[in-house]
Amino acid sequence: MTSLADDSLHILALVGSLRRGSYNRMLYDAAVSLAPAGMVFAEADLRSLPLYDDDLRLEQDYPGPARELRAAIAAADGLLIVSPEYNHAVPGVLQNAIDWASRAPDQPFKGKPVAIMGASTGRLGTVRMQHGLRATLESLEAHALLKPEVMITFARESFDDRGLVDEKAREVVAAQMAAFAAWVRRFGAQ
Ligand code: FNR
Repeated sequence: MTSLADDSLHILALVGSLRRGSYNRMLYDAAVSLAPAGMVFAEADLRSLPLYDDDLRLEQDYPGPARELRAAIAAADGLLIVSPEYNHAVPGVLQNAIDWASRAPDQPFKGKPVAIMGASTGRLGTVRMQHGLRATLESLEAHALLKPEVMITFARESFDDRGLVDEKAREVVAAQMAAFAAWVRRFGAQ
């Protein structure tokens, strides 16, 4: 996606919560505002995706929203996945999107640099979701950034109506975004 005329890093975000007032959406907003200059973000539309159905894939050569998602992932220099943890796992909304994008041939996660972050109201801050997501990304041959990890615990205390306000959390988000920019460049984008 990067060209000589445009040396920005184009990042596609997948946000795993659809609810208004989502802490993870606020976390994504914080990541965008704390990212180094030169990172440009767009968010994938996960709400429009139908539930995964292999018949739809075969009959329609992918439903429109799934086709758009695959193309957006393929075109991005890197992916930022920001998600809650549901029942110790990846939420269905996010898993559904990954499933649509995951089918060969030309599955677009292959070789793609990815950063992961999450916020939960509990004391483990999405650690189990992130662990499971890493295994999925590994199966798809994506390159998930390892450190620093961003796991926002006790979200009710870290966010208010201005967004992510916890200073230490903001520092780790900024550090991850800086590391992610270098990670994306390492895997191809200049
Ligand atoms: C949760 N929540 C939750 N939290 C957690 O730390 N571990 C978990 O396994 C779960 N499981 C879970 C399942 C379901 C169905 C819901 C709706 C919620 C709580 C979760 O952290 C909290 O609702 C967050 O506010 C969700 O993120 P958003 O929507 O605010 O971004």
